[in-house]
Amino acid sequence: MMQVPVNQFEITDEDKKAVLDCLNAGWISSEGPYVAEFENLLAEKFDRKYCVAVSSGSAALEIAVRSLKLKANFKAILADHTIISCANSILVNKGKIISIDSNMQNWNQDEELTIKAIKKYKPELILISHTYGLPFQISKIEELCFEMGIKIIEDAAEMIGQTQSGRKCGSFGDISTLSFYPNKHITTGEGGAILTNDFNLAENFKKYRNLCFLKDRRFFHNEIGWNYRMTSMQASLGISQLNRLNSNIQKKRIIGDYYIEKLFDLKEFIELPLSSHKGDKNIFWVFGIIIKEKLRKYYDGQSFIKKLGEYNIGSRPFFYPLSLQPCLEDYFAWENQDNCLKSIELSKYGLYIPSGIAITKKEQDYVVKSIRDIILECIK
Ligand SMILES: Cc1ncc(COP(=O)(O)O)c(C=O)c1O
Repeated sequence: MMQVPVNQFEITDEDKKAVLDCLNAGWISSEGPYVAEFENLLAEKFDRKYCVAVSSGSAALEIAVRSLKLKANFKAILADHTIISCANSILVNKGKIISIDSNMQNWNQDEELTIKAIKKYKPELILISHTYGLPFQISKIEELCFEMGIKIIEDAAEMIGQTQSGRKCGSFGDISTLSFYPNKHITTGEGGAILTNDFNLAENFKKYRNLCFLKDRRFFHNEIGWNYRMTSMQASLGISQLNRLNSNIQKKRIIGDYYIEKLFDLKEFIELPLSSHKGDKNIFWVFGIIIKEKLRKYYDGQSFIKKLGEYNIGSRPFFYPLSLQPCLEDYFAWENQDNCLKSIELSKYGLYIPSGIAITKKEQDYVVKSIRDIILECIK
């Protein structure tokens, strides 16, 4: 039986050479030219003035929120269907969350509900976390947020290389954050970055990534900070990977479109992602499917994942709703915790199937055939 992991990344000979060159040059910590070069290239790529590289996308979010220096108990709007890192970044900075239910078309937080919540709660911050491949229509809320003095952080971890209404994801709002975990469109193993056009914010990013060292008084600290630095080896890999960003996005689109074509006739049983939404083309960071009503008496997301496992196919559930996360229960996390029924539905019936950059057609065919067999078994 074939084995298909949920994610397969790509490390080329050029990538290996780039890291070896870095090692040979003797730069292994965050000091030296590699991190700075990676930051400059990222700033240029994402149409931003400043970029600060850090140790992960989660660290990037935590520093981004902290750098805004919002007053304790600030209110932040956030998708209910997203990664825990987003909630953490608000809570460690003493904010309260207003969670927004999902839109079933693009699986992001719902645009209309977001606008309603902005007007109702007048939050200090909105953290937009684009999800799975189609961007949240972030351009639609920029002006309103600007008029109301609301800060925007754009979590573009999954949207590296994506655009929204022709503008690059990673260039919206006051701050954008990226992740370079191996399932992202470019990887540094672990790693992340924070982008802004604001000089003072960028200075804060640097301080908070590096233990809050003072520039002119070493080992004297008037704020507490942690070590969130990126190494030169990671940066050298990132520089090399960045050269392939455009072709990686093309590959992801080919992978996504191939699944859509091959799974199309199963649409009564599983919902497929849209290949585009309101003019933005999907980049299929992951290829999600949702078990539909007809199949729900046989499978939910978890049991479908288990079944795919019997075929040696790796898959993952959709995010668990933030509003139901046990770890947030005792945190006084909520300004408002509406029932996010769509986010709950996504979490219960959604999963993503193998779609890493290095997946082959043969592997995709095997995944498609297995899904077909599993479904046909139920209805025969
Ligand atoms: C939307 C989003 N934000 C943040 C992160 C966190 O990134 P990292 O794993 O680099 O901490 C992820 C990770 O997958 C993510 O999907």
